Order: sequence, then structure tokens, then C-alpha cells
Amino acid sequence: MLDRFNRKISYLRISVTDRCNLRCNYCMCGNEFNFIKSDKILSFEEIYELTAKAVEYGIDKVRITGGEPLVRKNIVHLIKLLASIKGIKDFSMTTNGIMLFEFAEKLKEAGLHRINVSLDTIDPDKYREITRGGELKKVLEGLEAAKKAGLSPIKINCVIRESPDEIDAKKVAVFCHEKGFNIRYIRQMNIKEGKFWPVIGGEGGKCSSCSRLRLSSDGKIYPCLFSDKVFSIRELGIEKALKEAIRSKPKEGDRAGNEFYTLGG
Ligand code: 5AD
Ligand code: SF4
Repeated sequence: MLDRFNRKISYLRISVTDRCNLRCNYCMCGNEFNFIKSDKILSFEEIYELTAKAVEYGIDKVRITGGEPLVRKNIVHLIKLLASIKGIKDFSMTTNGIMLFEFAEKLKEAGLHRINVSLDTIDPDKYREITRGGELKKVLEGLEAAKKAGLSPIKINCVIRESPDEIDAKKVAVFCHEKGFNIRYIRQMNIKEGKFWPVIGGEGGKCSSCSRLRLSSDGKIYPCLFSDKVFSIRELGIEKALKEAIRSKPKEGDRAGNEFYTLGG
């Protein structure tokens, strides 16, 4: 489906939970003070119905995000359900990789095509510090498992402060080169100052060719990260929420300009 500015809306990002098993020091996810109550979280049926309808309307690229999507109970079953929808050409997930060792093969079998894994450093101590307790070894084992399972290509999301030349980012780049992973740099956004950036090497940040819609884990469609407009699939029904979200997609995000960022997952 085309929006008012002739952009083809083809990419849907689905957040399946707002919970996370890490507490990265720059991230707002996993903040237990604002957790969405579990009765508000979309059921698998709702996510399936919405996605099937979105595919009818022209979505052919779907990404599963969180929080951390692998902490959602029965996530493999949801992946199976969504993989059965004909017309999804690119079906991916963004994960922190902590539970990937356990899940990689099951995800592949269920029909997931590929994954993006967050990794800002390959120093175990720094990793523990950034993620407030995360164990790097698990991510590395998870990445191996994902490679073996054939989830491909594997992309690494590396958060940098200013530049890809920072020492940790450089080491992650060497690691990726050795392992055959693609690296993408994400400039750390400052939540307090409201500074946002596009993913370096990513597709976001260009409003004129933006093809995205986001679905939050409590059923709200966000046509743009930088617009307050949201369309609740429970209040409006799936069709109306989708149509209105596409129709309301702004020409540019309110806070966009050259500062733009893709949130969460
Ligand atoms: N700045 C940059 N990237 C962030 N992420 C989460 N919060 C921020 C932030 N403040 C990224 C993670 C991961 C994805 C889930 O979003 O590093 O790659
Ligand atoms: Fe979890 Fe990702 Fe946020 Fe880290 S950045 S706390 S892994 S959602």
C-alpha cells in the first residue's frame, strides 16, 4: 500500500515484549517501573491477524523485536505462525543473543530467515558493565549456534558513542570480519538530550523513502517514531488501525531533520 507521499509501506517491526533479560546502561527497555501489564500484551492470535492483514496491504518484510524477543513465552510458536503467512520475503529478529544458543536451531526450523544481534564490545568485563550483568560467553556461543543453524546473514548491531573508530567497535569489527558477520554501527542516542541518529549503514533516517510501521507489544501501531500519532488495533480494529496508520504516516518525523533513530531492537 502506498501512503500519501507515494512511499511503499513494506516493512513491519513487531515488538513482542517490552521485557529484557539485560539492562544496558543506555537503554530504556527492561525498566520495570513502566512495564506493560501482561493483560495488555498482544496475544499470538492478535499478532498473527495483524501481520496477515499487513501482508495483504503490501508488507513483505517483518522484524521481531522487544525488549528481548526471546524472553516472550513460546516465541518459537509465534515464529511458526508468522512464517506460515505467504508473502513475507524477509523475516528477521533483533536479539541480544543471550538465549540464542538455546533457540537458534528452533528459530531456523520455525521459519525465521535471519537475525541481528547486539554486541558493543568483545571484552567480557566491559560487556558485563554495559549490560549490567550480561555474560558475553553466552552471546558468543549463541552466535556460533546461529551460524551453524543457517540463520543468514548474521548482522551485528554495535552501539558506538561517536565513531566506529572507538577501540571496542574496532575489536567488534575484527571479530565480525573473522566470523563472517556484517557489522552495523548505531550511535548511542542520548535520551535526556533527545539526540537521535540513523543507523550507520542502515536504511532508517531517510523520511522520503521510509517504508516502516511499528507495532508495540500492547497493540499500538506507530506510523513514525517521531510522531505522537498511534493507532490501537484493539480500539480501532486491525483493518482500520492499519489503514489509518498508513494514511497518517507523516512526510517527516517531528524531531527528524537530520537527527533520526530507530528505537528498540
Ligand atoms: N542508543 C543507541 N542504541 C540503542 N539501543 C537501545 N538503546 C539505545 C540507545 N540509547 C539499541 C541496542 C540494540 C537495539 C536493541 O537497540 O544496542 O542494538
Ligand atoms: Fe535489552 Fe537491547 Fe535494551 Fe540491552 S539494548 S537492555 S539488550 S533491549
